[in-house]
Amino acid sequence: MSRLAARLALGLCLATHVAAQTSTSCNPLHKTCPADPALGTTFDTTFNESTTQFDPSLFKVVAGEDLISFTSEGAELTISEQGQSVTVQTAFYVFFGQIEVLFKAATGQGIISTFNMLSDDLDEIDVEIMGGNTSYTSTNFYGWGNTSQFNTLYIPSTGGSWGTQGAMGAIHNYTVNWTPQSLQWIFDGQVVRTVANEPAGQWPQTPSYMKFGIWAGGDPSNPPGTIKWAGGETDYSKGPFTMTVQSIRMIDGHQNASSYTYGGNSGSWQSIDVAAGESAAYKAINHKQTTAIQNAEQKWNGLSTTAKIGIAAGVGGGFVIALIAFVFYCIKQRRAGRREKALADQEWEKQQSELVQYRHQMKRGYYAVSSSAPGRKF
Ligand SMILES: *[C@@H]1O[C@H](CO)[C@@H](O)[C@H](O)[C@H]1NC(C)=O
Ligand SMILES: *[C@@H]1O[C@H](CO)[C@@H](O)[C@H](O)[C@H]1NC(C)=O
Ligand SMILES: *[C@@H]1O[C@H](CO)[C@@H](O)[C@H](O)[C@H]1NC(C)=O
Ligand SMILES: *[C@@H]1O[C@H](CO)[C@@H](O)[C@H](O)[C@H]1NC(C)=O
Ligand SMILES: *[C@@H]1O[C@H](CO)[C@@H](O)[C@H](O)[C@H]1NC(C)=O
Repeated sequence: MSRLAARLALGLCLATHVAAQTSTSCNPLHKTCPADPALGTTFDTTFNESTTQFDPSLFKVVAGEDLISFTSEGAELTISEQGQSVTVQTAFYVFFGQIEVLFKAATGQGIISTFNMLSDDLDEIDVEIMGGNTSYTSTNFYGWGNTSQFNTLYIPSTGGSWGTQGAMGAIHNYTVNWTPQSLQWIFDGQVVRTVANEPAGQWPQTPSYMKFGIWAGGDPSNPPGTIKWAGGETDYSKGPFTMTVQSIRMIDGHQNASSYTYGGNSGSWQSIDVAAGESAAYKAINHKQTTAIQNAEQKWNGLSTTAKIGIAAGVGGGFVIALIAFVFYCIKQRRAGRREKALADQEWEKQQSELVQYRHQMKRGYYAVSSSAPGRKF
């Protein structure tokens, strides 16, 4: 009875919750598409034993849900048989900004650990790690999913922070810093590649969601070209193969944005309309509803039987006490969430001030040409 009351009380807390929606099936180069839900803030999360799942208001697990487990090191994405893969994607989009994923790549010839930024008109930014190659990691990008573009650049990953096992030895920091002027890959704090902007269709510049996961490019059923690219055929008897994702931090280039809409079919960043306001992601991050409901249930379960009987005592009285207690609890949770956010914001102030500058430039329609050196193309 009182447990029901608790649930009802929390239900009231949750009343403002809005589930994020995405649309990836509509290409805005060819038609009018629904708005993309924005991140519109900074999102920072660490996966570990206390994580039970990818928060469904922020992530969608699109493949291999049963191949994920959470350990003290992070979220472990494991494949051990032909046909398996794990793909997780954000339920929100960022429009420029900084995207940081800390992970340990899986070992295994032909096994790819990856994260990508993908837009509705198929702009793409990639980090791809071949599990059979301890010497190089790979960076790539596309405009409009045009596969005639060859922008892959292999980045040496030996010595220094990489040790002898390359990306497979430990957790490394893979960061993409993306502005209207340039696209940068920063691995373990070192800028390893900078690519200056190019016109739409040649260079990624539209709102993108983030996708990460593990797959077998070396699966014997794949085309020979894919197997070669992946570094050779995968031998599943050497598995299981595990990618460990420790944490993710994403700073949307547009803060206080609730959604992004393509204004026309040009696919240029100047054509994107930014709607201001609190995004669904912002609400999910700052109100922490999911955590509140889990913690409240744990608290209830942890109470002594006497306490439970006490609460359950008078039906009416018990209900009111539970209601007040849990509403109070909700408020406390929200405050804690805001404190955490304030700290994170402070840490990122420097980068954000840079982003703010870009936003001003965009608002004024000012388009500075970057002096960054373009990357070598392989
Ligand atoms: C998980 O990570 C969070 C955030 O960094 C930390 O507060 C918590 O203590 C960690 N829990 C475990 C079980 O490692
Ligand atoms: C690692 O990748 C680089 C770049 O493609 C390539 O030159 C090298 O041969 C690869 N090494 C292995 C062991 O596959
Ligand atoms: C695809 O990219 C190539 C190389 O940049 C370019 O020559 C070609 O025109 C592009 N195709 C389309 C359809 O945009
Ligand atoms: C990851 O690298 C980026 C870029 O250098 C840096 O700003 C960020 O603080 C790093 N993250 C962690 C958790 O060290
Ligand atoms: C966010 O956008 C809303 C809606 O336009 C606006 O009322 C509010 O002042 C903005 N907040 C900030 C911090 O810019």
